[in-house]
Amino acid sequence: MSQVVNGHEQTRAAVRGLYAPIAKEMVQVEELLARELRSEHPFVDELVRHGFRYGGKRLRPALLLLSAQAVGRVTEEHLTLAAVVEMIHTATLIHDDVLDEAELRRHLDTINARYSNESSVLLGDYLFTHSFYLASTLETTFACRTIGQATNIVCEGELRQIHHRGNLHLAETEYLAIIDAKTAELTACSCRLGAHYAGADEQLEEQLSRYGRNLGIAFQIVDDLLDLLGDESTVGKSLGTDMEKGKATLPIIRALGTLAQNDRDDFLAVFDLPPAARRAELLARLEATDALEYTREKARWYVEQAIADLARLPASEARDILQSLAEFVLAREL
Ligand code: IPE
Ligand code: IPE
Ligand code: MG
Ligand code: MG
Repeated sequence: MSQVVNGHEQTRAAVRGLYAPIAKEMVQVEELLARELRSEHPFVDELVRHGFRYGGKRLRPALLLLSAQAVGRVTEEHLTLAAVVEMIHTATLIHDDVLDEAELRRHLDTINARYSNESSVLLGDYLFTHSFYLASTLETTFACRTIGQATNIVCEGELRQIHHRGNLHLAETEYLAIIDAKTAELTACSCRLGAHYAGADEQLEEQLSRYGRNLGIAFQIVDDLLDLLGDESTVGKSLGTDMEKGKATLPIIRALGTLAQNDRDDFLAVFDLPPAARRAELLARLEATDALEYTREKARWYVEQAIADLARLPASEARDILQSLAEFVLAREL
C-alpha cells in the first residue's frame, strides 16, 4: 500500500509544478469526475472508483485547460470537457490493459487483473457512454462531434495495431500513423476543444490542435521507450508488454532497418527466448545499435514541432506551461 501511495506522490509531484496556473481548475475537474462517476450499485461503484483511484497524470485535462487559457479564459464548459477527455482516456486504458494482458496500472492492479476481462470491457463502455452523455450537456454539438470523430480514430489506431501484431517489419511510416491515431488524436482533440470553447479563431484552434498532435506522437514514442527501459515501480504500470504482444515499436523498426541480413535473423531470435530473459536481451541488442538514440531524436523532433506551433500563439503564462509540458514529455520517467 505504501508503495502505491509513494507512486502516486511521485506522479503528483512531477506534474504539480507544471499545472500550478490551473491548479484550482484541476481540483474542480477531479471533483466533477468523482461526482459524475458514481453508481448506486456497489459493484459498479467499486469498479469505477478503482479505475479512477488517485489517477494518473491528468495530461489531457491539463492540455485542454491550458489551451483554453492560452487563447482566452477557462469556463464551466472547459471543466466538463476536461472530465470528458479524461474519462475517454481512462476507458481506452482499461480496454488496452485487456489487450496487453497488463496487471499494473496507475500503481494499482488493473481491472482485468483484479476483477475480469468482462468487467474491463463493460467498465470501458460505461466510461465511453458516460463521457458522451456529459459532452451532450453542452449547448452546442461541436464537442460531441469532435470527440466522436477522435474516439473513432483512436479505436482504428488500436485495431490497426492489432492487425500488425507480430509483424516486426512494420514500416516506420505505418508505426507513426498508428501512434498518431491511437494516442495523438486524443491529445490533439483536447487542445482543439480547449481553444474552440475559449472562442479561438480557426487558425489558433488548428495551431493548438497541431501542437497537441505532435506532443501526442512524442508522448507515445517515449512511452514505447519506457516500455523497454522504464522501471515499473516508477511508471506505475506493466512494462515490457509491447514485446510480449509482438508490437513493433520504433527502436525495433530502426534496428531491423539498419542491421545486415545475418544480424537481423540473430536479432529476431531474441523474441524466441524465454519471457524472463527477453527484455534484458532485447535491450542489450538495441544498445549495440543506434536505435535508442534514433528513437529519442525522433521524439525530440516532434517536441520541437509542437513548440514551434506554440511560438505562433500570443505570449502568456499558459503558453509557457504548454512548452514545459512538451519538454516534460521528452524527459518523463513516468
Ligand atoms: C498512457 O497514458 C497511455 C498512452 C497513451 C501511452 P498516460 O501516461 O497519460 O496515462 P496516465 O493517465 O498518466 O495513467
Ligand atoms: C497506448 O498504448 C494505448 C492507448 C492509446 C489506448 P500502450 O499500450 O503503449 O499504452 P500503455 O503503455 O499500456 O499505457
Ligand atoms: Mg498497453
Ligand atoms: Mg506503452
